[in-house]
Amino acid sequence: MLYIKKAISEKILEKVGTINQDSGLTVEDIVKMLEYPPDSKMGDLAFPCFKLSKALRMAPVKIATVIAEGFELPAVERAEAVNGYFNIFLDGGYVASKLVSETMEKGERYGAPSFGEGKTVVLDYSSPNVAKPFHIGHLGTTVIGHSLKKLHEFAGYKCVGINYLGDWGTQFGKLIVAYRKWGNRELIEAGGIDKLVELYVRFHEEAEKDASLNDEARGEFHKLEEGDSENIALWQWFVKISLEEYSKTYRQLGIEFDSYKGESFYTDKMPAEVEKLRNMGLLKIDDGASIVDLEEYGMPPCLILKRDGSTLDPPRDIAAAVYRKATYDFDKAIYVTSAGQSLHFAQWFKVVELMGYDFHDKLVHVPYGTVSINGAKLATRTGNVILLRDLFATAIEKVAGIMDEKNPNLEGKEKIAEEIGVGAIVFYYLSNNRMRDINFMMEDALSFEGNTGPYVQYTYARTCSVLSKSGDYDKNCDITITTEEEADLVKTLAKFEENVIDAIESYEPSVITRYILDVAGAYNRFYHNCSILGAESVEIKNTRLALTEATRTVLGNAFGLICLAKTEKV
Ligand code: ARG
Repeated sequence: MLYIKKAISEKILEKVGTINQDSGLTVEDIVKMLEYPPDSKMGDLAFPCFKLSKALRMAPVKIATVIAEGFELPAVERAEAVNGYFNIFLDGGYVASKLVSETMEKGERYGAPSFGEGKTVVLDYSSPNVAKPFHIGHLGTTVIGHSLKKLHEFAGYKCVGINYLGDWGTQFGKLIVAYRKWGNRELIEAGGIDKLVELYVRFHEEAEKDASLNDEARGEFHKLEEGDSENIALWQWFVKISLEEYSKTYRQLGIEFDSYKGESFYTDKMPAEVEKLRNMGLLKIDDGASIVDLEEYGMPPCLILKRDGSTLDPPRDIAAAVYRKATYDFDKAIYVTSAGQSLHFAQWFKVVELMGYDFHDKLVHVPYGTVSINGAKLATRTGNVILLRDLFATAIEKVAGIMDEKNPNLEGKEKIAEEIGVGAIVFYYLSNNRMRDINFMMEDALSFEGNTGPYVQYTYARTCSVLSKSGDYDKNCDITITTEEEADLVKTLAKFEENVIDAIESYEPSVITRYILDVAGAYNRFYHNCSILGAESVEIKNTRLALTEATRTVLGNAFGLICLAKTEKV
């Protein structure tokens, strides 16, 4: 649809030129002004002329009439001026033929914009804290972050996915103390991260009774900072055990990171930034601590050094940004975290600007709302925290149960149950605008009906099964559109690229989930109302198969943008 919008916009611009040659408008401006009328009786596209009346000093009704005069394009069946709107009716057959040939030609690249070519984006996401639970609070950063990576890759950007592991801090001193006192190597090797979390929890319990443990922990962390080889070895082992756990979840989601440089990596890079702040006169001493005053910008001060001289989070993030700029020369650095961290990001972004770093306007914070879970008893030994792992396991188990009833002989059932179970969670989560607080309803997410992951994956499988039943068909057939359902499906499929662009511009994967639901709805209406294999003529049958194939391509490409597996059989 985008190329049709462009062709129409060029023509409109030409007509506008006859009214005023120096309107200053571009084709892109016009493309943005084109609207989809709420009622298709008013056309497939509409151009609201009142938006130009000021610039052209002409009444909208008059502008619409000028544009409509002799407006001809291959894609346009007819166009008319109505009450200051220029309404365009597209030639359904033309749009359909273009759609079919384009989806076949471009395949996995169908719908891909190209504005990211030659540019680099680094994305900082997921970033769990070692030896602490990987819980549902991390679901947002993990799946939104990954989806934004896929979206940017699709648009041609070179993407670097960074897992900024929380792998440094006094908690490691605590863990070292706890391990030496109560730990057991074999048990930890066997039990993984849970055992580390247990040790961590135990440390806090014991420290309640005996405060000297805290001093001991600080001492061990200090030794770690100084490079004590035994402590370093323990720390590396804790990180390794934690990563093994995370990687199971990442594998289920199909996520891979390009870098795992965590907080520890930046420890020796911070002093230079602190020094720079000091030299520039940006540091202020406040009650013994060093801060950057941001009152002028309406924010509380950004904390740089604690009273004891130890560093806080902002200088670490600043050092990481400087390092990433030097290493990847990014055009954009995206950070996906809960909205609770918005102030932290706004503060250190400002400090980066005050430090004179020219990349300050390339830093983007993408926040998201909170998640809670209703009804499902998912609490774990670690208290009220719901682990991502357990959430997925529950979903997979439930889906496996449903599948046992529906389709007990399905081949590769286990893998499919995993893809659908995990997909259900991801789809449900990404269906909402990211800033909305989500109350997770497990039953709703897993339902095969309604606007769910299983429903859209089922629709994808349906397109696969139609195409495998049909066998070969003439892919160069003439496209003949005879029903409203076909026409609607074509228009919906043709809007893919616009939705991709919208999702990237607004950092909003939910644009894609909503679009997937539109496509699934349009396909299922078409499937139920138009006989495909039993169509009245070969031409119509071929058209319907071609539309089915185009749907499979679009759904498949869209799934790839939100970590949803393409399930060929359900
Ligand atoms: N590890 C932090 C947490 O779990 C998130 C880190 C976010 N990224 C960053 N560059 N600060 O809350």
